[in-house]
Amino acid sequence: MVSTLPPGPPLPALAQAGLVWLMPLRFLYGCHRRYGDRFTVRVPGFGTMVYLVDPDDIRTVLRADPAIFHAGEANMPIAEIVGSRSVLVADGEQHRRSRGMMLPAFHGDSVRKQVAHMVDITAEDVAHWPVGEHFPLLPRTQAITLEIILRTVIGVHDEDRLAALREALPPLVEIGSPLELLPPPRLLRNVGLWRRREQNKARAHALLLAEIARCRRDPTLAQRTDALAMMVRTSDDEQPMDDGELVDQLVTLLLAGHETTAAALAWTFERLTRNPALLERTAQAAANSDDGWLDAVCKESLRSRPVIWQIGRKLTEPVELAGYRLPTGTLVVPAINLVHHYGRYYPEPAEFRPQRFLDKRVDTSVWLPFGGGIRRCLGATFAQTEMRTVLREVLRRVELAPTAEPAEPVRVRHVTLVPHQGAMVTVRRHLAVDRIATA
Ligand code: HEM
Repeated sequence: MVSTLPPGPPLPALAQAGLVWLMPLRFLYGCHRRYGDRFTVRVPGFGTMVYLVDPDDIRTVLRADPAIFHAGEANMPIAEIVGSRSVLVADGEQHRRSRGMMLPAFHGDSVRKQVAHMVDITAEDVAHWPVGEHFPLLPRTQAITLEIILRTVIGVHDEDRLAALREALPPLVEIGSPLELLPPPRLLRNVGLWRRREQNKARAHALLLAEIARCRRDPTLAQRTDALAMMVRTSDDEQPMDDGELVDQLVTLLLAGHETTAAALAWTFERLTRNPALLERTAQAAANSDDGWLDAVCKESLRSRPVIWQIGRKLTEPVELAGYRLPTGTLVVPAINLVHHYGRYYPEPAEFRPQRFLDKRVDTSVWLPFGGGIRRCLGATFAQTEMRTVLREVLRRVELAPTAEPAEPVRVRHVTLVPHQGAMVTVRRHLAVDRIATA
C-alpha cells in the first residue's frame, strides 16, 4: 500500500511554518474547520505533521508501541536547550531508565511534602502585591513557580545561592525565536545571540554542578525531600546518574515545570476575574480549603486554556491510522487545544465552567493538558498540587477585583501559550490570614 496523508493547506512549507509559529491557534482552527479531524501541515525542520483531533485516533497514538511512536525524537528541537541526555528527548531504554529514576520525586507522597514550601513562597510574594493598581500577574506567577522549582526541585534554601540561580536559570530556557532552537555552527558560537546563549549556559551549568556537588556530599542527603536529592539517591541497576545527566534533567524540570505552571496559573486568574460569581465562589472555597472546587477550577482552566497546545510522536516505521498509511518520519500531533474546544465533548466550549469537573473523574481521552501514555507529564501531580495551592493561598490573602475587560488573547511564549497582556489584575485589599495546616 502506498503512503497516503490526510488533506492540508496547499501553501508553501515556509508560509505554513510562519503561520504555525506566529498564530498557531488561528491557523490550526482554520485547518480543522476546512479539513476535519485529521489534517497535514508541512513545516521545514519539523517535516510532515499530521494533526489529530479525534479522541479515538489520539488514544491509539498515546497507547501505541513507543518504539514506533518516538516522543523523544519529536521533542529533539529542544535538545539544544535541555541537553542530549534529558528525559524529554530520550526514547526506548534510555527514556525508561531516566523516567524511572525521576518518578519517585514526583509521586503524590513526595509532592505532599513540598506543599508547605509552596504555601510559604506564595505568601512571601503576595505580601508585596500593590493595592488599587492594575498589574500583570504573569511575572508574579513566574517568580513563584521559579522559586518553587529552586527550593523543592533543586533543594536550595541559602539566600545568596538562590539569588544567583534566580538570575542565571531563566535565560537558559528562554526561546525567543525558532532560530534559537538550531544548534549554532561552530564559527557562530562566538557571535551575537549564540554567544550570549553560550555564556548564559556556561554560567547556569556551573551553578547547577556546584549544587549537585554540594548535594552529593551533604551529610543530611538521606533526609532531603527535594527532587535533586532523590535523583542522587536513586540508582537504576547500579547505574546512578552522573553529573552531566543530572544537569540535563534539572534544566528539563525547569523548562517543563516553571513557565508551564506560571502560565496555567496566570490563565486561571484571567478566567476567574472575568467571571465574578466564580471568582467569589472560588475565594470562598479558598477560605474553607474546599479542594474539590479548587481542583475543578484548575482542571477547567487547563481545559479552556491548555498552555501546551500540542504534543508529538515521530514514526520510526510506516503506520496505518484512520485509513491513511503514514510514512516513516511523519510527526503525528495530537492537537490538545482543538480537542478541548470541541463542542461534541465540551458543550459551549468557550464558557469557563469548573462544574464540568466537579466530583467527576476526568476522561483522559478528551482532557489532555498533560499529554498521555508512557510520556504523560512526569510533573502532572506536582503541577496540579502547585496550582491548587497557589490559587488557594492567593485568594486567602488578597481580594481580587472582577473585570469587565474582554478576554485576553492568546500569545506564544517559549513553548507555552500565555495571556497576551500577562493576566492584568487589581488587588482591592490584603486579607488577614490564619496559617492552615498543610501536609
Ligand atoms: C501546568 C503545568 C504543566 C503542563 C501543562 C505540562 C504539560 C506537559 C506535557 C503536555 C508534556 C508532554 C507529554 C506527552 O508528550 O505526552 C509534559 C512532559 C513533561 N513534563 Fe510537564 N507540564 C506541566 C508541569 C510540569 C512540572 C511542574 C514538571 C516538573 C517539575 C514537569 C515535568 C515534565 C517532564 C519531565 C516531562 C517529560 C516526560 C517524558 O518525556 O517522559 N511538567 N508536560
